[in-house]
Formats: sequence, C-alpha cells, structure tokens
Amino acid sequence: MRDRETKLIDDIMELKEKRRAVILAHNYQLGEIQDIADFVGDSLELSQNAAQTDAKVIVFCGVHFMAETASILCPDKTVLLPDLNAGCPMANMITAEQLVEEKKKHPKATVVCYVNSTAAVKAESDICCTSANAIRVVESVPGDDILFIPDQYLGHYVSTKTNKNLVLWPGFCPTHARILPEHIARLKQEHPDAKVVVHPECRPGVIAMADEVLSTGGMVRYARSQDFHEMIVGTEIGIVHRLRKENPGKRFIPVSEQAVCPNMKLITLEKVLWSLEELFPEVTVPEEIRAKAKRAVDRMLEVSRSG
Ligand code: 13P
Ligand code: SF4
Repeated sequence: MRDRETKLIDDIMELKEKRRAVILAHNYQLGEIQDIADFVGDSLELSQNAAQTDAKVIVFCGVHFMAETASILCPDKTVLLPDLNAGCPMANMITAEQLVEEKKKHPKATVVCYVNSTAAVKAESDICCTSANAIRVVESVPGDDILFIPDQYLGHYVSTKTNKNLVLWPGFCPTHARILPEHIARLKQEHPDAKVVVHPECRPGVIAMADEVLSTGGMVRYARSQDFHEMIVGTEIGIVHRLRKENPGKRFIPVSEQAVCPNMKLITLEKVLWSLEELFPEVTVPEEIRAKAKRAVDRMLEVSRSG
C-alpha cells in the first residue's frame, strides 16, 4: 500500500513539473492530498493564491465553486478539478434566476454573496465574501440594507456583529448543520479547559457556545499562535489533519465524526494524477458570466487587501 502511494506521489510530482502546474488544496481535503499540495488554505487564501500564481495549470483540490473562482480570476490558466462531482450543496441552494427575483423584492439592498455559490450567482451579486472576511465586507458596503446569500447561518452570525440590516437566504451547509449544541456541551464537560473554536457556517446555537468563530484559515492561525492544550474543533474533520501535523504538542478534538463533507473527499491521489495526465476535467466559465462575476470577487479581494 505504502509503495503504491509513494509511486503515485512520485508520478504526480514529475508530471506536475512537466506541466508547470501548481496543486492547491482546501483545508478539508484528505490528508494525503494536503501533504502533496503546494499550498493548503481556506477559500480566501486559495483564491488569493490562484490570482497570484504564475503556473500555467492549477490542479484545484477542493469543490467546484473554488475551482470556478480560480477560473474567474485566471481565465488564461488551465484550472483542473480532478473530480467534477465534487460540488458544494450550499452553492446549489440558490440559482441566478432566484437571485434576480429576490433582488426585485429588495431593490435598495446590496447583494453580498458568499463565495460558496455558482459563477452565475456571483455575476448577479455586488460583492463576494468568504468566512474570513464576511464581517469586513458587509461593513464596507454603502447603505444599510444587505441581501446576504446563500448561507443563512453565516449571514446570521454577521448580522450579530454589524449594525447592517441583513435579509438572509435560507441556504446552509449540510455538513456543518450536523454539528449540534449537545455535541459541544458533552465535549465541554469532558474537556472543561479546552478552547471551543467553530466555523461560522455552524448553527447559531453552536456559535453561541464557542470561544472563537473562525474561517478554516483563521483556525490554523489560532492553533499556531495561542497557548492552549486542547481545542474542540467545530468544523469539517479534514482540518484536523493539518492542525495535528502543525501543532504536535496540542490536542485537537473534532466536535463530531459525522461532520464530513463527502464532496471534499472525492479528490484522491489517483484522480490528481489522472487529471494531470489528461489535463482534464477543466473548469471554465463563459466570458460574459466570468467578467461580471470577477467584479464581485475583485471587490472582495480589494476589501481584504485594505484591511
Ligand atoms: P473556509 O473559507 O473557512 O475554508 O470555508 C470553506 C467552506 O466550504 C466551509 O465549509
Ligand atoms: Fe460546501 Fe459544506 Fe462542503 Fe463547505 S463543507 S464545501 S459549505 S458542503
């Protein structure tokens, strides 16, 4: 088994050089994918990295909207998603047509669109945000009325941190919705000194019990910089691989073994190699949609840069 994996990794590395490719991986990817990536990060960090890379090919180990964002930012690069079935259910909870109808009901509102959305939805939005910059993005827009799509829980969390008036779309992440307040309560009883760190996609009842509410990149930085022995990790369990690897002296306790994003786990070493061999499957965005979506993504990156 080990030999097979070593051979696969050697082949990937060799072909990566030949193709002048870079491998970007989200913090929820399988451990073996994180370990071969050139860069591992959260949604914001991955889009910033995609925007800056001079590689010709980006192998995106994540879900479809992330590869699409890379393609929106770098139309001249080949953006590969090693399994096209790796979607994000939340991103499919609002369509561009539904957004157009909703905008008619709130004509004065600024549309803030979580990046977990399709390119067509981004194209109908004023500005994007990620979990790392959502509060700053919402505060940056002129006017008090915001139509926040598609994540109701992230939107609810942001509404508690700003004075803006947010209309929420009823989308949610099925993986984070599995994390319940009783999971946190039980673990807090067993580990009374542990820090509770959760993702803002969690339900409000979970967020209310947390010491920190952070993006996955924020969790990585928090784990490195803070002095604690145990951390209860309220997000998808893939991140625990990185937290343990980078912080061998600290203990990381996943809040629920059921907090698994099956789409993130579709990317395997075999598929990465195949994708590099075939330069397929490629993610592209029709130019008319891409140009409009890019405006919303660029505005977000601008707000992040200035903060
Ligand atoms: P991050 O941007 O915090 O990595 O979150 C992405 C995501 O899909 C969370 O479910
Ligand atoms: Fe989408 Fe949730 Fe998976 Fe993140 S964890 S990619 S929001 S389904």
